[in-house]
Amino acid sequence: MTEDSAILQLRNVTGGYGKKQVLFGVSLVVRRGELVAIIGPNGAGKSTVFKVAMGYLQPWEGLVFLNGQGVRSLPTHERVARRMGYVPQGRVVFPDMTVDEHLDVGAWLVKSREARRRAKEYVFQIFPRLAERRGQKAGTMSGGERQMLSMGRALMAQPTIILLDEPSLGLSPKLVDEVFQHIETINRAGVAVLMVEQNAAKALRHAHRAYVIDMGKNHLEGSGKQLLDDPEVRRSYLGG
Ligand SMILES: Nc1ncnc2c1ncn2[C@@H]1O[C@H](COP(=O)(O)OP(=O)(O)O)[C@@H](O)[C@H]1O
Ligand SMILES: [Mg+2]
Repeated sequence: MTEDSAILQLRNVTGGYGKKQVLFGVSLVVRRGELVAIIGPNGAGKSTVFKVAMGYLQPWEGLVFLNGQGVRSLPTHERVARRMGYVPQGRVVFPDMTVDEHLDVGAWLVKSREARRRAKEYVFQIFPRLAERRGQKAGTMSGGERQMLSMGRALMAQPTIILLDEPSLGLSPKLVDEVFQHIETINRAGVAVLMVEQNAAKALRHAHRAYVIDMGKNHLEGSGKQLLDDPEVRRSYLGG
């Protein structure tokens, strides 16, 4: 059983690569409309949690629910069809493809031309800047704009939840703020967000709730503010 408002729920997930165990029991929930962050040190297993959630990696044990239904054995494309969006680490864009072409790629699940047009309109409403630049090649865009484009591509499938892996990684402080604005824009449009962030202090400031994952386990959880004020979090995860 899961609560009615839960979109995504992981319960006691263990798993890893080959014989190497990385996750030792991870549980989390994202409810409708929430903005949830996962923070924790490098190598803690955060991206692995996302791979399990998206079905790229089978968990060894534990359960994954999407809208209350078990999806442990559902392939990734079926999860995307059930409105899960995923933006992998590293702003994966194709330098020679235009904004429009990227969005078309994101619409591979959308069958009719009319539905694709509406999906693009939806994305342009959320990110008007992408509409202004529909003919621009991704290679000529800034890091912040490329992140927006990666998110826009995932939004073409009109997800109810979107998983963002390290969206601000490698960006200058000004562009980091810009990316967090984009994330809030998506969330205000009604999309639940689960993000992994190295930029822990900023992530906690923007998130409704957050989880600290350390060594493949849940370590702490609370509201963004609770964790920001927590002395242990400050000492161990926010650099003092
Ligand atoms: N494809 C893979 N094959 C083997 N080990 C991996 C693979 N991906 C990640 N790992 C290992 O799993 C652990 C957790 O990685 P990851 O989930 O990427 O951590 P995080 O995202 O928290 O930095 C690390 O020790 C990493 O080296
Ligand atoms: Mg990672």
